[in-house]
Amino acid sequence: MKIDFANLQHQYQLYKTEIDANIQKVLDNSNYIMGDEIRELEGELEKFTNANHAITCSSGTDALLLAMMALDIQPGDEVITTAFSFIATAETIALLKAVPVFVDIEESTFNIDASKIEAAVTSKTKAIMPVSLYGQPADMDEISAIANKHNLRVIIDGAQSFGATYKNQAEVHYCDIYTTSFFPSKPLGCYGDGGAVLTNNDEYAEKIKTLRVHGQNKRYHHKYIGLGARLDTIQAAVLLAKLPHYVGEIKARQAVAQKYSNNLESIVTTPSVKKGRTSTWAQYTVRVDNRGRVQEKFNKGGVPTAVHYPLSLHLQECFKSLKYVVGSFPIAESAAEEVLSLPMNPFLTKVEMETIIQLFN
Ligand SMILES: Cc1ncc(COP(=O)(O)O)c(C=O)c1O
Repeated sequence: MKIDFANLQHQYQLYKTEIDANIQKVLDNSNYIMGDEIRELEGELEKFTNANHAITCSSGTDALLLAMMALDIQPGDEVITTAFSFIATAETIALLKAVPVFVDIEESTFNIDASKIEAAVTSKTKAIMPVSLYGQPADMDEISAIANKHNLRVIIDGAQSFGATYKNQAEVHYCDIYTTSFFPSKPLGCYGDGGAVLTNNDEYAEKIKTLRVHGQNKRYHHKYIGLGARLDTIQAAVLLAKLPHYVGEIKARQAVAQKYSNNLESIVTTPSVKKGRTSTWAQYTVRVDNRGRVQEKFNKGGVPTAVHYPLSLHLQECFKSLKYVVGSFPIAESAAEEVLSLPMNPFLTKVEMETIIQLFN
């Protein structure tokens, strides 16, 4: 038996009728750029999250750029973020010639350690960018309090967490701007690159819509230096077909995570979700001592695994000039050595899960 990590093919087969019909409609209309499906999807995302504005865009990476550009992050400004995430989190800060200032993570959630943020605030700090890693929101009450005290903006990199909640609300309600990714293997994925920016702030929303089309506020008139960062209409059509199934899929992911935890918590360090929040389980990530050997065993057993991520951000070569060293963020560094993500998708069968769990014995 070969187990599929994200099982996108199975998902397509399940929703094929709706997805194919939606794509065909776009082909019939030939409105490939900013077709009606774009605004329709944005309306659905607003309903889903109760946000005032959802603005779709070309990727989760571009969503971060749009968010920071809307907040007018300038060269030399500092943005505080986690030392343990996908590169895009910090790369986009650096691309705008701002400075990513890293903070270590919490052992139990892999998210930024809110108790260490304030020590990183300087007169140059403009924003805090927590990441909802593996699908779980960070300590947003604590982060908001620090942001309020120092007059900082908060952007949540929710690339992995669309649909997660904090105190029963979508994360957009706990920040200035929330961004997400619709990369195919994300909990809510399209069939190519895609993303969205969500906010309750009317001014930011207007600016993000303008920035998304080259800063254009009137045809061929450009108010800002912007990006070509629209979502393709075909991708919106795919997402419109998938969205009605998404609540059920999140529940199924949560059930998979629960089953993993029930069976594995006495064997390895399993991930935990803090009280008052829910995770979308973009990844189910355990910690193991001898990762190389465990991965080899899983490979032989036909079970794919992945490492998110093998090197923390502060030790990436591209950030050499920031002068962090091994030991700067010990908790992020040990996570990078020990994390192992197991197959996670809403369609894992009982037999598949038993096969995976067996391999730990
Ligand atoms: C935490 C995080 N931020 C940003 C991104 C970037 O999203 P995208 O791949 O859609 O550009 C990702 C996607 O992998 C991510 O996991």
